[in-house]
Amino acid sequence: MSEQGLFSSDLIAPTVAAALPEGYIARSLRLSDYEAGFLDCLRVLTTVGEISKEAFDERFNWILSQDTYYILVIEDTNTGKVVGTGNLLVERKFIHSLGLVGHIEDIAVAKDQQGKKLGLRLIQALDFIAEKVGCYKTILDCSEANEGFYIKCGFKRAGLEMAHYY
Ligand code: ACO
Repeated sequence: MSEQGLFSSDLIAPTVAAALPEGYIARSLRLSDYEAGFLDCLRVLTTVGEISKEAFDERFNWILSQDTYYILVIEDTNTGKVVGTGNLLVERKFIHSLGLVGHIEDIAVAKDQQGKKLGLRLIQALDFIAEKVGCYKTILDCSEANEGFYIKCGFKRAGLEMAHYY
């Protein structure tokens, strides 16, 4: 039996699965991705810190209990390594008749795997999940340097981000 992921494989877009390069699969994050390079993949995005297996498992199990986070990975099945990841967070609102809003976070493709449309497939896969679970829109923040990538993924500039760091 295959290991339990954060969410059902029914939420993996068939069109994305079919469009991935040979030997690559899209699937939910699993506990064993700690050993499969999930955190190293995230290191192309930002500082991750040193996270023990115990701390990783604790965070995974908390996320699993929430029914809010859909963390997707792309695995290169030839190496068993995680080569891409992205997170869809589903916010449950009161407005818009208890509307659901998707937030795309922490998109990362390993340096030596960039330019193979894996980033595009990640976004398409997260978009599919958002629509399937009932979100009326999905939003994200990015740097100016990545605007062109998100435009290619079908997003458009809307609003302005503000931040207060602690
Ligand atoms: N600016 C403009 N166009 C871009 C960029 C960019 N920075 N990056 C990719 N593209 C284009 C590609 O040329 C391609 O265009 P084409 O269809 O005409 O050939 C299209 O976008 C799809 O590109 P992919 O091959 O899918 O991109 P890739 O797999 O390399 O992933 C990503 C792009 C995710 C930005 C990757 O470079 C990466 O991981 N960067 C470091 C981490 C990062 O910045 N993540 C995004 C943070 S924002 C957030 O998480 C919400």
